[in-house]
Amino acid sequence: MQDLMVKEITVSIFRYDPESDKHPSYQTYSVPSKERMLVGDMLEYIHENLDGSLAYRWECRMRLCGGCTILINGKPGLICREQAEPSMTLEPLPFLPIVRDLVVDRKSLLDKIYSVPPLTRQKSPVRLPEPIAHEVILGLRVPRQCVQCLACVAVCPATEVLTADLFLPPKLIQIAGFAIDDRDTVDRVQESEESNLFDCACCHACEEVCPHEINISEKVITALRNKTYEHGIGRGGRYIKAFYD
Ligand code: SF4
Ligand code: SF4
Ligand code: FES
Repeated sequence: MQDLMVKEITVSIFRYDPESDKHPSYQTYSVPSKERMLVGDMLEYIHENLDGSLAYRWECRMRLCGGCTILINGKPGLICREQAEPSMTLEPLPFLPIVRDLVVDRKSLLDKIYSVPPLTRQKSPVRLPEPIAHEVILGLRVPRQCVQCLACVAVCPATEVLTADLFLPPKLIQIAGFAIDDRDTVDRVQESEESNLFDCACCHACEEVCPHEINISEKVITALRNKTYEHGIGRGGRYIKAFYD
């Protein structure tokens, strides 16, 4: 929380241009503080008044595009959500290639998240208006909230161990969104298994940084694991299915 008595913010920012710099460095700026100043406001002040060469992403400014995540004092957060503090260090997200300064190339991970096949209906003609159960509508709210900001990816131990692309919480969120929809005909159980569903350690670290407070371990991981158990697969699935039966 910002200390309103502090008139100036001291911020150390990671700087690196892979095309011209041999090594990354940190540059320190002093910024006049304002009440309820967001990290994004502070970066905008620096860009407009102190250093126009600073690169950062700041697009929708409404926590919707998911593109502005950086490490704020070592913790991933959206610059359009987190408040500036009297002393800060800002760095780019780990795992991803640096384009410049705080901007990373998110494409490789987003491609994997968006590789999940969309909802696929049966071939028979759809009766309109299409019936959809109330529980399904409620369940669909969770995946719809994910803005693919990758904050959870930056703290997930399973993602780290599996070298940042084989286990992706936002990909499992996409799969879960389709798996709970009765109209879908794709084998989401197999898809979950192939996406390393059982490597989640249920540590809840992702939930602590998610800007939309998505309960990933319960609403996504556990929900998908229960689906695999119903099919008698997954780690220990044969034994757990015996309880279902
Ligand atoms: S609960 Fe699972 S998905 Fe979330 S950070 Fe921990 S291991 Fe990763
Ligand atoms: S689950 Fe939350 S933290 Fe992870 S990508 Fe989606 S919105 Fe971001
Ligand atoms: S600017 Fe779009 S989520 Fe922050």
